Amino acid sequence: MLKRTCTCGDSRKDQAGNTVILSGWVNTYRDQGKSLVFIDLRDRYGMTQVVFDGEDSPADVMELGSSLRREDVVSVEGIIRVRDGKPNAKLATGEIELVAQKIEVINRTAKLPILPDDHDADGIGEEHRLRHRYIDLRRPRMQKILALRHKITQFTRNFFADNGFLEIETPLLITPTPEGARDFIVPSRHQAGHWYALPQSPQIFKQILMVAGCDKYMQICKCLRDEDPRADRQAEFTQIDLEMSFVEQDDVLKIMGEFAISLYKEVGGIDLGELPQMSWKDAMDNYGSDRPDIRFDLQLADVTEIASKTEFKVFTEACNSGGSVKAMRVPGGAEKLTRKKTDGFAEIAKTYGAGGLPVVKYQGGEFATGVAKFVEPIKNELVEALGLVDGDLVMFGVGSYRVACTSLGEVRLAVAKELDLIPEGMFRGLWVIDFPMFDWNEDAERWVSEHHPFTAPLASHLDTLESDPGNCLSSGYDLVINGAEVGGGSIRIHNPEVQSKVFGLLGLSQEEAENKFGFLLNALRFGAPPHGGVAFGLDRLVMMMIGTTNIRDVIAFPKTQTGADLMCEAPGAADPAQLEELGIIMREPVDSTEQA
Ligand code: AMO
Repeated sequence: MLKRTCTCGDSRKDQAGNTVILSGWVNTYRDQGKSLVFIDLRDRYGMTQVVFDGEDSPADVMELGSSLRREDVVSVEGIIRVRDGKPNAKLATGEIELVAQKIEVINRTAKLPILPDDHDADGIGEEHRLRHRYIDLRRPRMQKILALRHKITQFTRNFFADNGFLEIETPLLITPTPEGARDFIVPSRHQAGHWYALPQSPQIFKQILMVAGCDKYMQICKCLRDEDPRADRQAEFTQIDLEMSFVEQDDVLKIMGEFAISLYKEVGGIDLGELPQMSWKDAMDNYGSDRPDIRFDLQLADVTEIASKTEFKVFTEACNSGGSVKAMRVPGGAEKLTRKKTDGFAEIAKTYGAGGLPVVKYQGGEFATGVAKFVEPIKNELVEALGLVDGDLVMFGVGSYRVACTSLGEVRLAVAKELDLIPEGMFRGLWVIDFPMFDWNEDAERWVSEHHPFTAPLASHLDTLESDPGNCLSSGYDLVINGAEVGGGSIRIHNPEVQSKVFGLLGLSQEEAENKFGFLLNALRFGAPPHGGVAFGLDRLVMMMIGTTNIRDVIAFPKTQTGADLMCEAPGAADPAQLEELGIIMREPVDSTEQA
């Protein structure tokens, strides 16, 4: 191979006359006839136009140059010359070209299944791109994403190292962790019949590192949760994971806030502004979400009391059963939102548990359409409570408190999209704090943790932890940016008795708690400092900075919706000998078509 002397992104006009050697992939190929062939040679750093010119290139080089096809890998030695005519403004090297003097074709490319072009990537099925990820990743956009991800991890390591954090690795083969998803499990050969779980997060280990006196821990780590992927969720994803000792909530939020603000500024060139704090209750009350998007102004109001004065069954039933009626004023909505649109929003409300989405227009001082006749008797109170003006539309979220809030909160997001209320390029973040400790799970008929079972109650709520768990607030917090949860954490329980009480409230017997988390409870008994931390979703940070809603875009080798890696064809069958060694007997696969 000719030894590369510079990259395809380096050469400029003032180097005209120099001889250089470039290596890379043939991005495009144009045969102009009359012994004139142009290729754009591409590597990670850029693109340079190479010309094979019958007059200036040797005959054998001209011949090889004419035989090139897209994505062949070549090394070319040539002389830099200033281009005739207009420079190519799209390329950093656009003022020059390389006149080929020597060429080595390192690898010819077989017929390409996809092309590494940004402009036509959208037209290619994503499956096709994932199957041939080595070509897909050559696209400039994908290279940009990989580089940005690298910058984020570099910045993160430097930031936390500068602030005294130690990067410590934690194991992948462990016992179940408590993040609430399904575990991936791995059979043990040494102890056939026993299984490891893959970590849903390093939660317990980082707490144990605090008990071990490490004081400030960080790790950029893989987390594995066997849950169905979504647009912003993968079964295998990456966290920036942190823990600190001898801290209170404000200490953690301060340094993590500084990190987030400076990361966005220095890596993304994005001004996040300040990160205000909002209680979970205010977020639910006003935005109908525990991850409120505060980039636009629509807010919800509680009209339960007013609504209870109507004869509208939907309202009165909710009010009588301890539920809520929330209302959202959409300025100008009477004209802008057609019946078809509001019917569409109703479908959204239903997927979040509401029976529907009552609406009413306020025009000419009167209520019209929808539930107008039902809300007529409370007209003045509603107009005053919501500050209605002519041309507004009002939507109602009805149900239990959580259903009323979240169904209308989701509609709020859809309305903002429909009415283009979210300013382009704006980033707004906040800490959501004071979460409830527990949520009542109707199906399981027991309390479940709102964060995870190691989250401490607020000191002021410790006394009523057992007597009134439903109203107990925790020291959990989430960092929310543009309506996405990019990080979450808490101050932890460092007292084994409090930890046991919480396990008890979650329905774990003493014995179950010891079985599952005995090693943590033990560690807490042997000198645990007060501690707390947070984990940021690295993939989500990259998604946001790059402006994509597809998490697969920001992961080099992501999984599909069914958890498959199409390129390496995982998951696959196991070798029978391997299964035997592990003591695993496979049942005959069930043919679902036969059963049906
Ligand atoms: P949590 O489960 O909230 O907390 O996760 C922290 C952050 O990780 C990201 N995240 C995900 N990203 C992509 N795909 C997923 N499936 C996924 N799940 C979570 C989110 C989320 O905010 N151990 C605790 C942290 C702590 O208490 O310190 C934990 O894992 O951005």
